[in-house]
Amino acid sequence: MTGRSAISPFFHQLRMTDSLTACDIRWPAWPVFDQTEETALLDVLRSGKWWFGERVRRFEAEYAAFQGSRYAVTCTNGTTALEMALRALGVVEGDEVIVPCYSFIATASAVVTVGAVPVFADICPDSLCIDPDDVERKITDRTKAVIPVHVAGLIADMDRLQKIAEAHDLVLLEDAAHAWGSQLDGRGAGTLSRAGTFSFQETKNITAGEGGILVTDSEELADLCRSFTHCGRAKRSQWYDHDYLGSNLRMTEFQAAILSCQLARLSDQIAVRDANAARISHILSGLDLILPPPAPRMTRRSWHIYIFRLGPEREPVRDRIVERLNQAGVPVLAGWYRPLYRNVVFQRAHQGPPHGIRSPLAARGVDYRTTDCPVCEQVCRDAVWIPQNVLLADSGDVERAARIIRTVIEQESGR
Ligand SMILES: Cc1ncc(COP(=O)(O)O)c(C=O)c1O
Repeated sequence: MTGRSAISPFFHQLRMTDSLTACDIRWPAWPVFDQTEETALLDVLRSGKWWFGERVRRFEAEYAAFQGSRYAVTCTNGTTALEMALRALGVVEGDEVIVPCYSFIATASAVVTVGAVPVFADICPDSLCIDPDDVERKITDRTKAVIPVHVAGLIADMDRLQKIAEAHDLVLLEDAAHAWGSQLDGRGAGTLSRAGTFSFQETKNITAGEGGILVTDSEELADLCRSFTHCGRAKRSQWYDHDYLGSNLRMTEFQAAILSCQLARLSDQIAVRDANAARISHILSGLDLILPPPAPRMTRRSWHIYIFRLGPEREPVRDRIVERLNQAGVPVLAGWYRPLYRNVVFQRAHQGPPHGIRSPLAARGVDYRTTDCPVCEQVCRDAVWIPQNVLLADSGDVERAARIIRTVIEQESGR
């Protein structure tokens, strides 16, 4: 394994509990980098060509090939990737977009940013991805699109979602921000619908600190997205010709240089994470937990997070288990601890007057106070996340951590 070794403050939640760390396992630091990133960065620096250019184009081609798409368009982050995808797909004011309520805020906020209304669907209790049955229930004559999230790298039920989308003439857009390299029957995440978006933010399995990308097989969609990232310039237009409404979301050559190095390492890292996830599942088996489900059709799985559920009975002790594990040096966290619609931004969305930042949905008849997705509510109370850098550790350390997890759960369950 390349990279430095230290106890990694992986997520902000963990930063708060670092001082409690007692275990001597030194988890792989994240991000992983070595001489290749250092050389690549110096090359960009010395070239004087720092702005969107050859290296960005090269990384786009590499990532498209890796994921198995015809086109890839980089941008500033996974949030703006979703926004440009929605715009390019023709989602406009008045449209509804069905999103899962177990996700990062960007899946829903991007919908609001383009002027549409997010409608929250519940998730499946084992895959934690959007529940196709609930998607069907939430469809109205205003529904334009559905955004499945491949939570933790596990691919959502795309077969069912495709059928629903076809039957109701909806657009499917994959939020693949956790699924770099994940494949279903050999087909990459993001290529199972019109387009897929990815994040390269610092906690992600491939990172340049920030960054995002969209993959698609549609040249027209790729061109529209490029235009959007590039101040609305059309493909072969003059520099000060702006044919579309756009923004400046361009990636820099520094980011692309780092990402090419990170991508070269990714396949090997996925194999390590996959083997370690199997070790954890083996050690935690028989405990009456809801473990990440096997996915035999997935030919590769990114394992951004290993998420297991304690289940409703152990829900009251979840936070104590997380705290005890952190104290024991096993960096786990509660993850998304509330369904998206419970955030103030949505709970107050009905209050007017409309405001660009506070509540663009105000006065549009939207009221999330009665939204209730019981499976997601439960998952938010009983899930435990093991982050991806822990899954990169030596097998012995991962087994030791899994045994500590097992012991703490047994003790807290009174067994
Ligand atoms: C599921 C999901 N979608 C979108 C995003 C947004 O990506 P970014 O942070 O790069 O804007 C994230 C980031 O954590 C995410 O987890």
